[in-house]
Amino acid sequence: MDQRERTHRRRGIVLAGGTGSRLLPLTTGVSKQLLPIFDKPLIYYPLATLMMAGVREVLFITTPEDQGAFRRLLGDGSQWGMQFSYAEQDEPRGIADAYRIGRRFLDGAPSVLILGDNIFFGHGLQALLNRASRGDGATIFASLVRDPQRFGIVELDADNRPLSLVEKPAEPRSRWAVTGLYFLDHRACDFADAVQPSVRGELEIISVLERYLANGELGAETLHRGFAWLDAGTHESLHQAADFVKTLQDRQGMLVCSPEELAYRNGLIPLEQLAALAHAQRASSYGESLQLLVQQEQHGE
Ligand code: G1P
Repeated sequence: MDQRERTHRRRGIVLAGGTGSRLLPLTTGVSKQLLPIFDKPLIYYPLATLMMAGVREVLFITTPEDQGAFRRLLGDGSQWGMQFSYAEQDEPRGIADAYRIGRRFLDGAPSVLILGDNIFFGHGLQALLNRASRGDGATIFASLVRDPQRFGIVELDADNRPLSLVEKPAEPRSRWAVTGLYFLDHRACDFADAVQPSVRGELEIISVLERYLANGELGAETLHRGFAWLDAGTHESLHQAADFVKTLQDRQGMLVCSPEELAYRNGLIPLEQLAALAHAQRASSYGESLQLLVQQEQHGE
């Protein structure tokens, strides 16, 4: 790979800071993104989405207190053929703050930012992610919701071109929520630097996206039937997400959002490495599922 290719490859950021106040007392001792979603920590799910998008270098932004726990769990990424870095966010200043913190890590590369509590699942997701990754400007992913007042909302025309963006509108113009997954080109950090705090005191991602919208450079992918977008921000949604993952895994006998499996399928680690990772975790049902996968691959099933 030449230098140009390396610097211009899309890099990933997982924003995993925040206080998790809507999950108290669960989050008093543990970061929200380390809580379990059935058999794996929440952070695995957004990480898996980045891996599906073909990202190799990932920056995890965490609170200063929790960084040690994330490092213990995820390491330097080499076990999965990835490269992980870590940065601190000392207080939640809004999603756009990720581009300020991540400027040095991005080093002029295009990026994909995902919120640490967002779970994406669905047939054909990888194709959508690859299309967004190849695209210019910015791409957002929109999903229909029942309670649009709780989200960033995008209004779309008949060809799915964004017309307007509003953060938590009192009178929503559509039910298309802007999910926590943002593909932005190399200008994201400059645009984020120019953002002023909103009335709720945050550096809003919507303000960054508005710059792309104003330039006619914002695209949207819509997540239709057959896609699941879950955020695990409340007790109820945390439980639902775990139920969803358990049901899918039980029925299909396949893991949902396993970094080990994705690393193997993406050709980042050989089968022997997958087998070693499975063996090390063999005492849990997660490790057993990985061992099953290894056997299937060995027998060419
Ligand atoms: C944030 C964003 C919002 C987006 C949502 C997706 O909301 O501000 O635009 O729709 O994430 O999870 P928050 O989690 O800060 O309420």
